[in-house]
Amino acid sequence: MSDELLQAIRTIPDYPKKGILFRDITTLLGNARAFRRAVDALVQPWAGSKVDQIAGIEARGFILGGAVAHQLSAGFVPIRKKGKLPHETVRIAYSLEYGLDEMEMHKDAIRPGDQVILVDDLIATGGTAEAACRLLRNQGAEIVAACFIIDLPDLGGRKKLEALDVPVRTLVAFPGH
Ligand code: PRP
Ligand code: MG
Repeated sequence: MSDELLQAIRTIPDYPKKGILFRDITTLLGNARAFRRAVDALVQPWAGSKVDQIAGIEARGFILGGAVAHQLSAGFVPIRKKGKLPHETVRIAYSLEYGLDEMEMHKDAIRPGDQVILVDDLIATGGTAEAACRLLRNQGAEIVAACFIIDLPDLGGRKKLEALDVPVRTLVAFPGH
């Protein structure tokens, strides 16, 4: 199964800059069978269990997160880049390759004790997902797991989340990225 997903992901060399191999999931999303299989595989450990909310990270985490929420009959909480949400928000800073950025979610999006699964397309350094976990926990979320289609294991993101006691589920890995 992961071979099918691996083959559905397109690799673009030297994007967005020279030396980077960009793992492009748009080909997977456009392949009906691969898209369904990826969503089914992501949620499989929690099929039938009570999950209150799926938190998706802008932007690519929204595409998968919505499908996962539907599949688990859970709600969906968008975690957005700053300045995009209309109501009162809580915000957290996180490091990118160059400098800092901030992400936020609505203050009332999570109720204390909510069982939450975090979803994004890919984990690299884990900086984005770690910040999202902290933001969710600050609001009282219990993070059931963090799920990604792609792991770039050499960049250490999985370990960063596991050090926070967040179970990590990934479907395909690109060692050496
Ligand atoms: C990419 C990817 C993850 C994040 C992973 O998003 O979709 O969200 O980077 O990187 P990290 O593990 O090193 O933090 P990006 O910030 O490029 O934005 P996008 O999803 O809006 O395209
Ligand atoms: Mg992203």
